Amino acid sequence: MSKKLFIETLGCAMNERDTEHIIAELNKHHDYESTSDLKDADLIIINTCSVREKPVQKLFSELGQFNKVKKEGAKIGVCGCTASHLGKEIIKRAPYVDFVVGARNVSKISQAVLKKGTVEIDINYDETGYEFSEYRNSGFKASINISLGCDKSCTFCIVPATRGDEISIPSDIILKEVQKAVHSGAKEIFLLGQNVNNYGKEFKEEKYNFTKLLQDISNVDGVERIRFTSPHPLHMDDEFIEEFASNPKICKSIHVPLQSGSTEILKAMKRGYTKEWFLNRCQKIKDLVPNVRISTDIIVAFPGESTEDFNDTIDIVNKVKFDQIFNFKYSPRPNTPAQFMEQVPSEIASERLTDLIELHKTHQDELMAAQVGSIHKVYFEDLKPNGEIMGFSDNYLQIFVTGSEELLGKIVDVKITKASRTSLKGEVL
Ligand code: SAH
Ligand code: F3S
Repeated sequence: MSKKLFIETLGCAMNERDTEHIIAELNKHHDYESTSDLKDADLIIINTCSVREKPVQKLFSELGQFNKVKKEGAKIGVCGCTASHLGKEIIKRAPYVDFVVGARNVSKISQAVLKKGTVEIDINYDETGYEFSEYRNSGFKASINISLGCDKSCTFCIVPATRGDEISIPSDIILKEVQKAVHSGAKEIFLLGQNVNNYGKEFKEEKYNFTKLLQDISNVDGVERIRFTSPHPLHMDDEFIEEFASNPKICKSIHVPLQSGSTEILKAMKRGYTKEWFLNRCQKIKDLVPNVRISTDIIVAFPGESTEDFNDTIDIVNKVKFDQIFNFKYSPRPNTPAQFMEQVPSEIASERLTDLIELHKTHQDELMAAQVGSIHKVYFEDLKPNGEIMGFSDNYLQIFVTGSEELLGKIVDVKITKASRTSLKGEVL
């Protein structure tokens, strides 16, 4: 009888993909099957995030909880960015943890489960050529890594220290994965990397970049939609934006991570662009792609952020009117330069976060209300227990209609009848 694996995933889309790889490897090599029942699991894994402090605290409280309720003899493993960052410290603080496998060492998982005390966290490890076994959460869309790590050194960010230097995965491996995904029924491909539009910068012999990769993927038979995250504003050159605009397979929603609207703060963050460059890029995207939806990440109260700096962020938010904003209060991370800079008092940080959230709500309401009456091609992917079917438009609006499972996996025209702040209702045409 197969053994049971319970895995909890915190953090970003890359962690979600790493979890799929962990499930696939443990199934193939040790016959584990997933369970959602913690008490029934023979192996419990937490795939962690360390980008802000909260998830790290959560890890240790959860580990304690899991250890209390786990079945006799069940193993516990810690994977992901906090595994890379804290390594054997995790086993010191929680001695019942059996193994620790970092975000850059996922291919080591099958060996790690066999030996208590294993710690695999080398951030220079290159697993770009490793052929992971196959498993995907969704039959409709496939996440595919195109690069590992990050070559930037934003002064607030711990990711380069947990996921290592940037390496682009060779395009022939990516294209093979795309073909496999399409063959198993996925129409949508979701490309993943910390700076996707910096793809290929270390390929010395040929000029093969992200734009070329997008073109090659869109020529694979069966690919109907391509999404990607995250592009970096610095690398949004005209060639990239023009390809984004003109290639019909590329979905017209884009994440443009701002972080701050103040050129001074962007400099202190080492982001490599100015307020003007960011606005110019968003304007170019909007000019070329009329229905585009733009999302962003913003950090409030980065060290040294004055009221004036924050007002620059508000100014950009008012000018661009983002469709979605992931707002974060700055969280000091170990061994990052910003940790040692002059911190903004936490009451001010909270006030700024609230102001930003409230402003964004007014934009969201306005933007979503304007969708009523519009028609979108929706790719349906989830049947809800209440008889509704959910899917996304090309520009990433979440849309619900009443319908049966016949719609699942189909791309269908829908007319929008009702708007709320974050999703829409509609009728199939
Ligand atoms: N390469 C990705 C960033 C990954 S981290 C990108 O450019 O989108 C995801 C987001 O977490 C960042 O964009 C940033 O907004 C936020 N973040 C990273 N470090 C943080 C910190 N120390 N405090 C608060 N938010 C942080
Ligand atoms: Fe972090 Fe900046 Fe890289 S936000 S992931 S160091 S681009």
